[in-house]
Amino acid sequence: MTPKAKIAICASGEGSNFAALVEASRRGELPAEIVGLIVNRPKIGAIGRAQRLGIPFKVISPKDFSSRADWDQSMALQLKRWKADWIVLAGFLALVGPEVLRAFAGHVVNSHPSLLPKYGGPGMYGDNVHAAVLSAKESETGVTVHLIDAKFDQGTVLAQGKVAIRPGDTLEQLAQRVKDFENEFYPRVVADLVAGRLTSKLTD
Ligand code: GRF
Repeated sequence: MTPKAKIAICASGEGSNFAALVEASRRGELPAEIVGLIVNRPKIGAIGRAQRLGIPFKVISPKDFSSRADWDQSMALQLKRWKADWIVLAGFLALVGPEVLRAFAGHVVNSHPSLLPKYGGPGMYGDNVHAAVLSAKESETGVTVHLIDAKFDQGTVLAQGKVAIRPGDTLEQLAQRVKDFENEFYPRVVADLVAGRLTSKLTD
């Protein structure tokens, strides 16, 4: 039997996608082992979820290092210690450093709550994304799962899923609908990726 792929997750917030990935793996829908969680700040929801789910976690905060390069190196070291095959960013708000991107080239994945390239780039995170979508009076939005390269929200798109915008949607309603969809969609796309079912797409 080939050993299961090992996934490390990085998060900065609530951690609903982190938990959804762990649960999908435990249900056998995501053929991978979640080996650990890295958070870049203390006291965030994702830590409590990791404790409840029994997943090892490390706080590796840029503030605790004298340089960005040292932080990057510490991230890479921890990911190698866990022998991660894939790095899955789940609401990770720090720019992944060059050392991690080099060590895990083509194996760093992110999910963004819009249909990229729309509503991506600097400042486009969390509610800012949904507020921009609503003020542009879009009729649909969605989620993009993509590989990460040196710039935020850029790299090969692996999959996109659409979410309808309903007349009169508030920011909270739209954000929740997108998040609910993402919690189901992201683990499914990561499952396809680690199982090699997205290979043809990647070589297009
Ligand atoms: C998600 O919407 C993700 O797309 C974005 O940040 C949010 C994180 O949510 N990058 P959570 O912490 O997983 O609940």
